[in-house]
Amino acid sequence: MTSLTIEGENWSGRSLRALVEHILDRFHAVHREQLPRLIELAGELGTDGAAVLRFVENWQFEIHDHLAKEEEVLFPMILDDMGDDAAAPISVMEQEHHEHDENLAQLEQLIQQLGATHIDNSTWQKLNHEFANFKGDLQMHVHLENQVLFPRALSGEQAGKSEPRH
Ligand SMILES: [Fe+2]
Ligand SMILES: [Fe+2]
Repeated sequence: MTSLTIEGENWSGRSLRALVEHILDRFHAVHREQLPRLIELAGELGTDGAAVLRFVENWQFEIHDHLAKEEEVLFPMILDDMGDDAAAPISVMEQEHHEHDENLAQLEQLIQQLGATHIDNSTWQKLNHEFANFKGDLQMHVHLENQVLFPRALSGEQAGKSEPRH
């Protein structure tokens, strides 16, 4: 059963425009702060953190590219009530979401491997904590796009008004 309630808010009752605005504020802007923090913490671990550092440094370019495609191509189509013409960009985004999941699993494995020798290291603990936040946010973000935003846009729903959160 797909849950449409995320962080206590039932998105099935909100306009597409409100949903896009929420995704930009709550996820796109937040990931842009989380990625540099992960890089900084991995860097503080020196040689030991090198594999994690390299992984995040490479992946961040793909994530930035994905966010930019949504912001510059797909979301403007949805906001212009052209979401029902967006099947092609949406299928590209869904494929990239699948890649996000695979990358999350790989990065988690790298961080856990490092934890085998660094479990008492406060920098590793911070890295592990930041990663857990990032993972939870990225999964919620993808869920909201795949399960709520994309199907509603493809159905031809109008973007509607921007509404303040209650
Ligand atoms: Fe997004
Ligand atoms: Fe996305």
